[in-house]
Amino acid sequence: MKTLILNDSTDIPVAGRIIRDGGLVAFPTETVYGLGASAYSDTAAKKIYAAKGRPSDNPLIVHICDAAKLCDVARDVSDAAKTVIDRFMPGPITVILKKKACIPDSVTGGLGTVGIRCPENPVAREFIRAAGVPVAAPSANISGKPSPTSARHVIDDMMGKIDAVIDGGDCTVGLESTIVDMTADIPVILRPGAVTYDMLKEVIPDILIDKNILDTVADNEAPKCPGTKYKHYSPDADVFVIEGEKEKVQVKIKELIKENAAKRVGVLFMYDAVYDDAVMLCAGRDNKEYAHNLFNALREFDRLGIELVFAEFSDDTGYGLAVKNRLYKAAGHKVIYV
Ligand code: TXA
Ligand code: MG
Repeated sequence: MKTLILNDSTDIPVAGRIIRDGGLVAFPTETVYGLGASAYSDTAAKKIYAAKGRPSDNPLIVHICDAAKLCDVARDVSDAAKTVIDRFMPGPITVILKKKACIPDSVTGGLGTVGIRCPENPVAREFIRAAGVPVAAPSANISGKPSPTSARHVIDDMMGKIDAVIDGGDCTVGLESTIVDMTADIPVILRPGAVTYDMLKEVIPDILIDKNILDTVADNEAPKCPGTKYKHYSPDADVFVIEGEKEKVQVKIKELIKENAAKRVGVLFMYDAVYDDAVMLCAGRDNKEYAHNLFNALREFDRLGIELVFAEFSDDTGYGLAVKNRLYKAAGHKVIYV
């Protein structure tokens, strides 16, 4: 299949047409690039799973161009859900609600609920509007790889497998949306993101955080967010998180570099570039920058043929919870606390 690379200002109508014709278009959002298809089409949704190599029980998020369109796809919207939607949509948040019958089972992986997101990115919204239907979209990476935060990443993973990609530059946030399950009596955060626990707590004081956010899910347990049971964000390199105070982290990583002198080692650093004999990439000075740079850095280490990555990490407050969640997954939960 030939994959068109579309311009984000002139080619949106072309992208909309492809969706209406049952095709696949990757598009930029403020979080990560999505791989979109008509959310009303069973066959189009199945094409997404095939292109990504994604297990069919892992549901897709349905994207709308305006929060008011939520009622086209969801039912039984509680007052708490309305509060969250009014406050944070459009933005980097997905709400889980009961689905309407117009959304096929293939989109929701057989669940009776649907994840709904209205992106803030104007290109994303113009594209969904041009499609004329809600757009079902997971992140536009090959299943298991880090999510794409630029059109380049999408092209690396998806060239020849999808109809088109809209090049809208780098994603500003860089990590996927916060997911909140609004179907339970007490809302639960299933995946942390740029809309933080503290921000949500301001409008829903009793909101909970799902315990699986920093744990691995046991084989015999059904996670609330099906995607969390799969291997995620796995670069080819073996990743270790080194967590603690700055000085101790630096001493530990220096030791580890010496111990692994025979390997091609990379360091994702936050503080200063103090390491010899390693390829260093900067994660940024705070968690907002870390979020923005993480997936790109993981892909870059692979491109450079790095075998072993040590990632500095210290602060899991606020936005840090989302960074920590993705880092731990990328590392397969190999964390050294110092
Ligand atoms: O920022 C984002 O959310 C990006 C952009 C493209 O919008 N999308 C994204 O999609 O990250 P994806 O498919 O990579 O991750 C969606 C996650 C999966 O872990 C999936 O299991 C969960 O959302 N999910 C989707 N629908 C759900 C539902 N009805 N109930 C529980 N979890 C759901
Ligand atoms: Mg994904």
